[in-house]
Amino acid sequence: MTDADDLPEPATEVLEDREGIPFAGAGPGDPGLLTVRGRALLADADLVVHAGSLVNSELLDAFCDHAEQVNSVGKDLEELVPLMRDAYEEGRTVVRLHSGDPSIYGAALEQMDALESEGVPTYFVPGVTSAFAASATLDTQLTLNEVANHVAFTRPQGKTLSPEEDHISEFVRMGDVTTCIYLGTHAVRETMDRLLEDGVDPDTPVAVVYHASWPDEDVIRGTVADVADAVEEAGYRASALVVIGEAVTGGGYERSYLYGDWANGGSDDGGEADRDAEAAEGDD
Ligand SMILES: C[S@@+](CC[C@H](N)C(=O)[O-])C[C@H]1O[C@@H](n2cnc3c(N)ncnc32)[C@H](O)[C@@H]1O
Repeated sequence: MTDADDLPEPATEVLEDREGIPFAGAGPGDPGLLTVRGRALLADADLVVHAGSLVNSELLDAFCDHAEQVNSVGKDLEELVPLMRDAYEEGRTVVRLHSGDPSIYGAALEQMDALESEGVPTYFVPGVTSAFAASATLDTQLTLNEVANHVAFTRPQGKTLSPEEDHISEFVRMGDVTTCIYLGTHAVRETMDRLLEDGVDPDTPVAVVYHASWPDEDVIRGTVADVADAVEEAGYRASALVVIGEAVTGGGYERSYLYGDWANGGSDDGGEADRDAEAAEGDD
């Protein structure tokens, strides 16, 4: 048996000692959903540049009270990059805190590239993206055996995305995709109208999860045909995730192979054994 003393240092310790500015995910809102590594980095920080209202102020109060806090909203790269570079070069410990996970609609890489070109190393520290918090709120899985085999993280057309780049109808029409729409709360009506125009089944389930994991979290359930009315009535224009697909209901799934007979009972057939091994790697 391996002696515990022979094991390598946990990655947490190695990465906490890493040189440079971490671009860390704050998670979806609940301070309890910040990662252990994120918390350790914040505990050491002198300057935290955060994503404004998408980062729960309770989290900032709990973990960043000792540090200077700068809200990045409304600041362009020309302001943000020198701010972080100068602090880093002065020897201060800087953390760039994005909401959710920084790799999802976070525009992190352009800041990181700009800092790297100024000689400041940077690295990613993942967080819990809001789609995962929304899935937990809905008491469902985003992939569900015989219901949803795929997940799409997407956003609706607008200033950033042209109509040709908007693939929401294609994802939904595939039938076995759970489509998670970020940055689309203000456009639920237009998105649902486009889905109907594109021939999507009007009864396709939709959930709009506002502030997943926050104290004022709210869920609006409906269908492609009627959810927009309810969202407008509630008055939500931002900070919600729109989830489309049968998986939203948490029903209709089949028992999976993972806990089924052939996975547990096994056989001495080589092919079965391979499939068992694959199933054992899966969650469903
Ligand atoms: C600029 S994107 C950032 C996404 C973030 N990086 C993530 O991984 O969740 C902001 C969008 O994420 C979604 N969002 C962020 N936090 C949320 C939450 N707690 N509940 C629901 N949606 C959220 C909303 O769609 C919002 O418009």
